[in-house]
Amino acid sequence: MSEMASTDPEGLDGVRMSWNVWPRTKVEASKCVIPLAASISPIRPHPDIPTLPYAPLRCKTCSAVLNPFARVDFGAKIWICPFCYQRNHFPPHYSMISETNLPGELYAQYTTIQYGLPQNPNPNPHLDPSPLPSVFLFVLDTCLIEEEMGFVKSALKRAIGLLPENALVGFVSFGTQVQVHELGFSDMSKVYVFRGNKEISKEQVLEQLGLGVSARRTGGTSYQKGMPNGFPNLGVTRFLLPAADCEYTLNALLDEFQTDQWPVPPGSRASRCTGVALSVSAGLLGACSPGTGARIIALVGGPCTEGPGTIVSKDLSDPVRSHKDLDKDAAPYFKKAVKFYENLANQLISQGHVLDLFASALDQVGVAEMKVAVEKSGGLVVQAESFGHSVFKDSFKRVFEEGEQSLGLCFNGTLEINCSKDIKIQGIIGPCTSLEKKGPAVADTTIGEGGTTAWKMCGLDKSTCLTVFFDLSSSDRSNTPGTVNPMLYLQFLTSFQNPEGQLMLRVTTVSRRWIDSAVSSEELAQGFDQETAAVVMARFTSMKMETEEGFDATRWLDRSLIRLCSKFGDYRKDDPASFTLNPSFSLFPQFMFNLRRSQFVQVFNNSPDETAYFRMLLNRENITNAAVMIQPSLISYAFNSLPAPALLDVASISADRILLLDSYFSVVIFHGMQIAQWRNAGYHNQPEHQAFALLLRTPHEDAQMIIRERFPVPRLVVCDQHGSQARFLLAKLNPSATYNNAHEMAAGSDVIFTDDVSLQVFFEHLQRLAVQS
Ligand SMILES: *[C@@H]1O[C@H](CO)[C@@H](O)[C@H](O)[C@H]1NC(C)=O
Ligand SMILES: *[C@@H]1O[C@H](CO)[C@@H](O)[C@H](O)[C@H]1NC(C)=O
Ligand SMILES: *[C@@H]1O[C@H](CO)[C@@H](O)[C@H](O)[C@H]1NC(C)=O
Ligand SMILES: [Zn+2]
Repeated sequence: MSEMASTDPEGLDGVRMSWNVWPRTKVEASKCVIPLAASISPIRPHPDIPTLPYAPLRCKTCSAVLNPFARVDFGAKIWICPFCYQRNHFPPHYSMISETNLPGELYAQYTTIQYGLPQNPNPNPHLDPSPLPSVFLFVLDTCLIEEEMGFVKSALKRAIGLLPENALVGFVSFGTQVQVHELGFSDMSKVYVFRGNKEISKEQVLEQLGLGVSARRTGGTSYQKGMPNGFPNLGVTRFLLPAADCEYTLNALLDEFQTDQWPVPPGSRASRCTGVALSVSAGLLGACSPGTGARIIALVGGPCTEGPGTIVSKDLSDPVRSHKDLDKDAAPYFKKAVKFYENLANQLISQGHVLDLFASALDQVGVAEMKVAVEKSGGLVVQAESFGHSVFKDSFKRVFEEGEQSLGLCFNGTLEINCSKDIKIQGIIGPCTSLEKKGPAVADTTIGEGGTTAWKMCGLDKSTCLTVFFDLSSSDRSNTPGTVNPMLYLQFLTSFQNPEGQLMLRVTTVSRRWIDSAVSSEELAQGFDQETAAVVMARFTSMKMETEEGFDATRWLDRSLIRLCSKFGDYRKDDPASFTLNPSFSLFPQFMFNLRRSQFVQVFNNSPDETAYFRMLLNRENITNAAVMIQPSLISYAFNSLPAPALLDVASISADRILLLDSYFSVVIFHGMQIAQWRNAGYHNQPEHQAFALLLRTPHEDAQMIIRERFPVPRLVVCDQHGSQARFLLAKLNPSATYNNAHEMAAGSDVIFTDDVSLQVFFEHLQRLAVQS
């Protein structure tokens, strides 16, 4: 186990915590500065997780699921729940159990286990009892230039070709108006048109599509043979057809398909009703039964300018809102559009459906406004500058791929958390929605999606990650030692429909030790996970920046770091030179330094859409990936040496080296000046310079490995020292060479002229402030 843990820090459980040893009291916890938080990957696949073909046993008092931490009396056939200490009798079919004949869920190593649950009883015996197929409703923006339309058409055709034959497909297009395409006809295309300039209710959508109450009253009792069950409203099958049956029609439709024909006056933006299109699409999916795995796949090429969800006027001289505008409350459309998408999010969640957003445009399209609907429904998001760019093309293809490369898209997820007495749940940051299920474990204060012990995840996949924030009850337990269990337990229960349509329940039970931190701060320090703590702080800061008026992120981070260093550093008061930091904390200040400079905190360097995009991915990626977003990795390639990690500092730039920077959203290959000259002279094509050819090739191969694994596919930037694209690297490096010490830098290295403090100056300040009495 320990060997595995070193290569795979998340192990079987997919759980990482900021603190792996917990202080006993609320007061001690607050002195720890960094919140008690767990990052969980609820359905991360692992080859060693077994799936049991039966339903789990639950505690009769607290309904926690039987797990390896339960105490079992084999003689009396009783198990004691580690959460509430209730004694539970095993049911008769467990009568054979003994120390040597354990059921899978009691094996010590199976702290994570899955149960394959039987299907729901079939509501209508006349209908096909097979699992519900997934529904893919494509929603295409038609206000595109011809070239973009060509790109997106071919991406769509490829996607439809990759869908499982029984997947149900629907097609909606929009520009000035919304068109819902009836795919049931192969010879003639039938279209239902909706006006784009006014809000439309779900009932109106259904009525207009002939799926409303009145239609159901007249012809609703007949059913189409071969259609799956679970669709009480069978009229919906006119719009959602099995991929195998409509691929031809849809391809023919796309071949003929034109860009929006509505005239756009000079100086104007196209009239684009994204909001109504998504409303109509959600209404259409509302005719499927709740919990059916259905996703709206929105392909958007520009800003909404028409009807609800509008983010900017049609007048081109009126720019799309910036962070400055939002800050000054000078973005007249913003709040109204966000409100609209909050309502859409609620509708989608009540139906159990997902919104995926593929935004491809040079300018902003409104990702910042739509974020709430994507994130709360657990949708995917990809932002690219064109439908022809590999970031869009390759990401979009990945969504539909099967096998090893598959994203493992699952539906209808519910997460429930149980915890030991005195642990309270504040909430979750990440792609989910609070189900507002109250209970004794709900904390008074809320972080993110809170006020609950259960959350909905309409969409979730292999890499979905959530951050749970905990608090401790204020009751003082330290005066009752001996009676207190030294261990604490957390149980994460995730039920979901897997890609094959089967209902699964994943149970992860983890245990950690309580510690009297007033007595042993060393043990507490040993349990600190710096990388997780850095990511937790990044997610928490981002959320505060979005929700707290006037929140000063840099100042808050600095203060937190100073308090942490004051508590856990070794020093003589008022003697900065004496300051040292325990190895368990030694990487943390640098993480905070890079977080302060990152796109998550310095938002003014980006558009609100970019910020929204970065944050959605920060919140849903695993710790390793999220850490790279905060503090990129840098590898240096040189002659006669193996590729080696390099300092994230301008001093790492050298004329005779190649650098590979991975900042998650982009992967940069940077050639030193000398390398670039040799390459331009074509040395690598000469037989006597094979070593150079290899040196040039290796970082490209390594970059491809990163790109292949990642979703969304990162942008690849290949550049040379002093080239304009070099800014993608320089922006991420520590500006160690400033005006003052520039002359000390080695020849050939770049100098960033900036007001940023360097890492060294930052450390000096930190030490001085941490030791202050
Ligand atoms: C969706 O999940 C809920 C909660 O786990 C479950 O009760 C329901 O049967 C599921 N719906 C479908 C259609 O699988
Ligand atoms: C465990 O979770 C269930 C479901 O959310 C809840 O009803 C119960 O109260 C929880 N028990 C404890 C001890 O947290
Ligand atoms: C994090 O996610 C990436 C895929 O995006 C995966 O390759 C990696 O193994 C994951 N890390 C952990 C610790 O799960
Ligand atoms: Zn219990």
